[in-house]
Amino acid sequence: MVSGEYVDNLSAIDWGNVSKVSIIACGSSYNAGMVAKYWFESYAKIPVEIDFASEFRARNVIYDKKGVYIFISQSGETLDTLSALKEAKKQNVTTIGLINNLNSSIANLSDYLIPIEAGVETSVAATKSFIAQLMKLLNLVLMASKQKNIITQSSYLGMLSDFNSEIAKLCDILSVNRKIIEISKAITQAKNVIFIGRNHMYPICLEGALKLKELSYLPVFAIAAGELKHGSIALVDEDSLIIGLAPKNDVYNKTLSSIEEVKARGAKIVLLTDSKDNIDVEYLFNMPKCPDILAPLFYTVPLQLFAYQTALGLGRNVDRPRNLAKSVTVE
Ligand code: F6R
Repeated sequence: MVSGEYVDNLSAIDWGNVSKVSIIACGSSYNAGMVAKYWFESYAKIPVEIDFASEFRARNVIYDKKGVYIFISQSGETLDTLSALKEAKKQNVTTIGLINNLNSSIANLSDYLIPIEAGVETSVAATKSFIAQLMKLLNLVLMASKQKNIITQSSYLGMLSDFNSEIAKLCDILSVNRKIIEISKAITQAKNVIFIGRNHMYPICLEGALKLKELSYLPVFAIAAGELKHGSIALVDEDSLIIGLAPKNDVYNKTLSSIEEVKARGAKIVLLTDSKDNIDVEYLFNMPKCPDILAPLFYTVPLQLFAYQTALGLGRNVDRPRNLAKSVTVE
């Protein structure tokens, strides 16, 4: 749950004086960081850059002394993330580690520590730790927003308590197992699977695609909906399955236009939405209504379940997918 308990740990950071946030991570942790980019910019009005840790190391980073550098890692031992942190420490910038394993190198080295508090995660695929990372990042963004007087103390506390009750609605998603199995079968039959979404749904597309490909070994892509027509739509034909994420928000209509474009190419469509509009697609997955800020948390859950059920259906080992290690301590 969103608790705000670690806030004291970070109270020395003066968010009003932070010129930018840099987020550095790999894999699912990177995807969580990209959601935080959208949140930071929308709710705390702080510009954000985000890098894969390997690319952060590869490029010539221009450090900003008034910047805050956030390193996200479940294991706290990912070599690229750890090496990037060591580089940032040499530059004397403020570093925050958002870490699940508190007895880890990244946890020990970061100036500030945000525990992810997901508990031990044994399956190779990051699932509960991804959700927990999102919750902690959201709390951090709101704390920065409150400190900058963008939201008031009372609305901050109100939002935290609303979130705790809203999150209970996630259980509703778990009760629609039949639909999840039906969609998983469609995934198995498709020649390729493409997740599309905009805004904070784009990183959730990346995460849904990552989970599905690593557990099922199928050809899966994630594309920002507006980018489709810049090349990737060439992949789409009547054997494609498109999974669209379309919460009813400011970009809802644009996402629906992208769905129409792929429908016109004969693709089958899975649409996840909380809208009650009458939308003609093969698989409509009704999502519970939630505040838009929480949509990344909500929409992650069915995508994790699609990956799980697809992998089970294909007889894959869902906890130990091939070629992968839980902690990547090599380059
Ligand atoms: C995907 C997955 C990986 C990790 C990545 C980073 O399900 O688990 O993509 O997210 O290897 O690992 P951490 O977060 O330990 O740095």
